[in-house]
Amino acid sequence: MIKNVFTGQREDKTAPCVIPSKVYLNNKGGVGKTTNSSLDAEYSACIKGQRVLLIDWDGQMNLTGHWIGVDVDEKGNLMTPVHPDIDPNDEEDKALYSHRSSIIDIFYGKEVLPHPTYIGPEDIDDLISPRVDIIAGSREGMYQLQHNFDTAVVSHGVTTENTVKGYSTRKLIQRLAEFCANPELGRYYDQIIIDAGPSDTPLFRAAIQAATHIVTPYKPEEYSFMGITTLVNNILSANSNRMGRAEKVKFIGLLPCMVDRGRGGFHEDYIRDAMQDFSHYHFPEGYLLINSKKISSRQSKVEQKPDSVYKLRPSDPIRKDCESVFNYVHGEVFGHGE
Ligand SMILES: Nc1ncnc2c1ncn2[C@@H]1O[C@H](COP(=O)(O)OP(=O)(O)O)[C@@H](O)[C@H]1O
Ligand SMILES: [Mg+2]
Repeated sequence: MIKNVFTGQREDKTAPCVIPSKVYLNNKGGVGKTTNSSLDAEYSACIKGQRVLLIDWDGQMNLTGHWIGVDVDEKGNLMTPVHPDIDPNDEEDKALYSHRSSIIDIFYGKEVLPHPTYIGPEDIDDLISPRVDIIAGSREGMYQLQHNFDTAVVSHGVTTENTVKGYSTRKLIQRLAEFCANPELGRYYDQIIIDAGPSDTPLFRAAIQAATHIVTPYKPEEYSFMGITTLVNNILSANSNRMGRAEKVKFIGLLPCMVDRGRGGFHEDYIRDAMQDFSHYHFPEGYLLINSKKISSRQSKVEQKPDSVYKLRPSDPIRKDCESVFNYVHGEVFGHGE
């Protein structure tokens, strides 16, 4: 059993401290990674009073779109939004940051500046209040990195030291982990939540190496034994060869998402099979997220503040599901019963 010693009850919240990094991970798309990253961030801030740093590690930038919106160029390509606090005409700002500050900048020796979101105080000097900030993703930047990775040799989980454009694959994989393990982040945040993209590449492995905790959302109708087995094995084997950070990764488990009840028990059958096959690596019975408009409609609002499921009445079944799932996740990271 792997234990991580993170605590949500820190004495001095603004002291340096290595904080947990939770990754929502599955090599399949459309299973709920982005949605659950957001629901977890909201829960951690609004219900548990934490300061959360979201990282959009997916070139599709859905997480960025949901929280702060994205720009679109004249060809219709998604662009990282500009950061309102970075002045492109200021020499000092220009040396430190890109105007469209994104997580990709950690690979190019730049600082990254998280965006505040609608959850949290406007005062940037307030280091105590609950908040959700986000480091934006970059479609173009991820593509460039992906391209660099694709020409390197990675097979059977073994990365060679091939140098691609002056950057070894190992270094690329390590970089996100190093960034997340920086104790300085603990001054501002209680935890990091990473939305990983659907790929089976070094970018994906970088997300595993950056993680101290992993949740794998899956859709019980597309549940594929082979895919999940490989994924679980990759996560577990990451502990024998940590890159970029020392803390072990704890696999919180497989989480059934977008579950339809009452389709002749179809989804329930899949969940039962998954629980049997992956008994140690599955959320306990009863923890799941129902397929509901109350969840999906949150995602489409960019200009307006999205509604929160935690504002539904306390007896609402969707709110109750979300609260119990993310309370369980919180307990796995910070200890149950706090
Ligand atoms: N519990 C849910 N109920 C209804 N729709 C959901 C639920 N979870 C996710 N969705 C929707 O399903 C789609 C895919 O979810 P998303 O979180 O973007 O998956 P991923 O990040 O794994 O690609 C989105 O349109 C999202 O709004
Ligand atoms: Mg996504």
